[in-house]
Amino acid sequence: MNSKIITNKPLDINKQAVEASFSKAAAHYDQFAQLQRDIGQKLLEGLSAVKPTNVLDLGCGTGYFSEKLADYYPHSELTCFDLSSAMLDQVKKKQLVQVSCLQGDIDKLPFQKNFFDLIFSNLVVQWSADLGRCLKQLKESLTTGGQLHITTLLDGSLNELTQAWQSVDRHPHTNSFLSLAFIKELVTPLGFQSLKITTETRTLEYKNVIEVMRALKGIGANHVHGHQRLKLHGRELLKQLEQGYLPFVNTRGLLNLTYQVCYIEAVK
Ligand SMILES: C[S@@+](CC[C@H](N)C(=O)[O-])C[C@H]1O[C@@H](n2cnc3c(N)ncnc32)[C@H](O)[C@@H]1O
Repeated sequence: MNSKIITNKPLDINKQAVEASFSKAAAHYDQFAQLQRDIGQKLLEGLSAVKPTNVLDLGCGTGYFSEKLADYYPHSELTCFDLSSAMLDQVKKKQLVQVSCLQGDIDKLPFQKNFFDLIFSNLVVQWSADLGRCLKQLKESLTTGGQLHITTLLDGSLNELTQAWQSVDRHPHTNSFLSLAFIKELVTPLGFQSLKITTETRTLEYKNVIEVMRALKGIGANHVHGHQRLKLHGRELLKQLEQGYLPFVNTRGLLNLTYQVCYIEAVK
């Protein structure tokens, strides 16, 4: 099991390395991002018929959902914000109207208070070093009545891979994720007018461990905090990892990889 983060102390995250991983993946991200699509689509369907003036796509990636937001709200100004310059280049290629791209860090939000009527963020805030602070600042940047629609990952995500690696060595090969209880502790005191937090489990299947690792690398989510990335080389290592994964091979002979997803929908 991943060790749970149960402290308010900010994490030490190498943002340059995170940026590099996502930027490396930017050009082919969309080919690997089916899970992100499905989760983001569900988040999108929860948006109510509001007429926002200013909309933020926080951690917009290649802009798949930015494009949908721009379609939904043609009269709004949309800000696409991401740490990765190469991801933002993909957004720019879409030539969306009334859209501005801004490179930055969710832990150093540059936005003025009471500005956005809608903040959308799909599978990004799990990369925050200080989620409590990030959520507080997002709330501040919302107008009164403004809506926050966020998804993130919870502990238990990538558990099969974490456990398989634990049978190989003692290094961390996956990141830890916050628990639902901890996230509730962070969000509830912010005093939103309304707050809905829901969860779901999604399990993906892969043919072998190389495919599992490729899938994470394909979306750029392969930076492990505080740990030098190891290449999956050496037949012996691969064999050990496959052995470690055996308890998570399903009846169809495929390797399960589970994501615990958290949806946060709040109104200021
Ligand atoms: C899994 S992708 C999701 C992209 C997009 N929201 C989607 O649904 O396709 C995570 C995105 O978060 C961005 N990201 C990671 N850490 C970030 C940070 N500290 N500040 C801003 N963006 C960050 C990455 O560059 C990447 O584009």
